Amino acid sequence: MTREYVEEICAEVLKDVEEKRISIRGAIEDRKENPLIRKLRSLILALCLETVRRYVLLDKIWEHVVGEVPRDSYRRNLIRIVTYEAKYRNVEARRLLRVCMRNNIKVSKEHIRRLRDISENDIVRGLSYEEKLHVKYSIPLWLVKYVLDKFPDGERILESFSQKLPTYARCRIDRRQVLKRLAEIGISAEEDPDLDDAIVLERARLSLIEKTLGNSIYIQDKSSMLVAHVVEKTVNNNNVGIIKIVDTCSAPGGKAIHVVDRLRRCIIIGIDISYRRLLTERYLIYKYDVHHRIDISCSSALRLPLRSLNPDIVIVDPDCTSIGKLSHSPEIRLWLRQHHVHDMARLQYKILKNVIENLRGRFHIVYSTCTITFEENEENISKICDEYGLEIVDLCSIFPKFCNIYMRGSLRLFPHLHRTGGYFISCVRR
Ligand SMILES: C[S@@+](CC[C@H](N)C(=O)[O-])C[C@H]1O[C@@H](n2cnc3c(N)ncnc32)[C@H](O)[C@@H]1O
Repeated sequence: MTREYVEEICAEVLKDVEEKRISIRGAIEDRKENPLIRKLRSLILALCLETVRRYVLLDKIWEHVVGEVPRDSYRRNLIRIVTYEAKYRNVEARRLLRVCMRNNIKVSKEHIRRLRDISENDIVRGLSYEEKLHVKYSIPLWLVKYVLDKFPDGERILESFSQKLPTYARCRIDRRQVLKRLAEIGISAEEDPDLDDAIVLERARLSLIEKTLGNSIYIQDKSSMLVAHVVEKTVNNNNVGIIKIVDTCSAPGGKAIHVVDRLRRCIIIGIDISYRRLLTERYLIYKYDVHHRIDISCSSALRLPLRSLNPDIVIVDPDCTSIGKLSHSPEIRLWLRQHHVHDMARLQYKILKNVIENLRGRFHIVYSTCTITFEENEENISKICDEYGLEIVDLCSIFPKFCNIYMRGSLRLFPHLHRTGGYFISCVRR
């Protein structure tokens, strides 16, 4: 059946997200030839994002009012969209009934009225504290339990995952000039108090910003920007000549480009296992005109010939559970499972181990993840320091605002404290 309705397109997009574990934006991009997507991209993106932010609540509402939630991914996501539209967008019942009928979902006008009228309190009545938060914030139950168990301010962390965070951008030219040009096109923004090249945007009208400022600006979360600042401080303290940096998990290159922007005396070899993501990095290093300082290569960080490269600094920014990005990319919650924490921690540890075993002499490793789990962060760093006799560089004294209370010397950022994604950075040396 051809998908003629926006709701059907959204359900297809969310099915792709769930099954292929890709982002909503990526799934929409894959379907960009679809005429409805070409015409209504922003609406489809917003509808998908808002639905996913409430997916547990929407499932519970449906169960309460209509009955069992369909098992197949397409129809499950379709009823989420329909419930969201009934309850939060007041879309007319006739349209929702038509969409359901076309997709063999049996609902009546009375069901739609009750979907609209039911209160969130009715849904969570009688549930345990943890289950209530699971429904309220639509975060997997295992993750709710993990956060409450590990962090004293766990509920605030969970709450912050459902709140919108500011958009940050990095200025590649003088920051005041960028703010002036943004003001001229009616976009208000301000200087970030912590990073001298960062600005905070109130409204992210990205295409207009891009059109006006071209490659003078790079949209990037403040937490990610901090990595290049850490690399810069590490180098300054060393006071050496040309710095050779290997970026082991480089694509799409956000940090590599930032590092060469800040460090005039460095070259980077960017490695990544994903050819597709490296194509994006190649596009970006040409767009930002830094291709002569970043060399990219497709390879696994588990088999890197680092000995011959003999770098001064290695950046390890590996795949992770990305829990710190739940606010900006809520779709992660659709497919993230508890075992992923251990799978990721194992992969990250193996990458670190391989890097260290292939380095000679003195070196620095800057390790970062966009997640909050201890297994992927402190525990990995502790393990490698113990096993290889490495020392943790004290980043706290340089960036006291982001000081990590769970591990001396390293940094942690949290959405509820710093208004950024959740992030971890540590620098170790031999
Ligand atoms: C968090 S992203 C890196 C983001 C990048 N550093 C940036 O700033 O734009 C993690 C990257 O690790 C890559 N990756 C995963 N396993 C890898 C491996 N074994 N070797 C090299 N890269 C790997 C993924 O393809 C992904 O691009």
